[in-house]
Amino acid sequence: MKNTVATFRAMKEKGEKISMLTAYDYSTAKLVDQAGINSILVGDSLGNVMLGYGDTIPVTVEDMIHHGAAVVRGASNALVVVDMPFMSYQTSVYDAVVNAGRIMKGTRCAAVKLEGGVEVADRIKAITQASIPVVAHIGMTPQSINAFGGFKVQGKSMEQARKLLEDAKAVEAAGAFAVTLECVPTPLARLVSEQLSIPTIGIGAGDGCDGQVLVYADMLAMFSDFRPKFVRTFGNVGEMMTQAFKDYDAAVKDGSFPAPEEGYKMDESILEGLE
Ligand code: KIV
Repeated sequence: MKNTVATFRAMKEKGEKISMLTAYDYSTAKLVDQAGINSILVGDSLGNVMLGYGDTIPVTVEDMIHHGAAVVRGASNALVVVDMPFMSYQTSVYDAVVNAGRIMKGTRCAAVKLEGGVEVADRIKAITQASIPVVAHIGMTPQSINAFGGFKVQGKSMEQARKLLEDAKAVEAAGAFAVTLECVPTPLARLVSEQLSIPTIGIGAGDGCDGQVLVYADMLAMFSDFRPKFVRTFGNVGEMMTQAFKDYDAAVKDGSFPAPEEGYKMDESILEGLE
């Protein structure tokens, strides 16, 4: 069944949990989609996972369109959300609408995601008014890593907890149809989820959220540069890949690959005619 913005709304109303995973390419998107995951996020985490940057800051709109379009081609039923990268919406409301439009036209995604709360509510409102659905992202927002001074849990103090609640209400009022809560204490994320009518999608935000998202390369142990405590390994694919690469290396070197049946035959007389 095709997942839409309305599916998200209905799932929250019925108390059904929403599953979301990242993907950045056609083949992975197909696998995620076939597994019945509700939504695929083409996260700007592709900067870390696909492109090898230390953070998401260098990721461009062109990067997002390139990967986002591939994911959309692989996803039949999952709702595809594409991240707006750093500096594609922070500069002005105008830039935000133009870049959200470029991303939607260039990828045919169903929605965009951007980071921030009260301070980007005017961007969320304008993008939504342009008929582009928006997922907000609050709490620990990786594009603000330099302002935060590192990856830190958000909402532990009274001041931060108040700010998180204000941000959540502001993005809902601005028209976001869902909100990602990243690295937020479990009880606070539960409170936010109870107070909002739109679904919350948690990552490192505990079990009180309306849905969960993980970076697929984290949950398959394919990405090892850093590993937050909220990541669970659902499959040791990284280890399987390394072993398969080793087996291939050995088979090439000992001559057991390719086997005769892995090659193409021809009429031997043609070969003789060449001698
Ligand atoms: O870029 C990303 O993958 C994200 C998730 C961590 C929510 O924003």
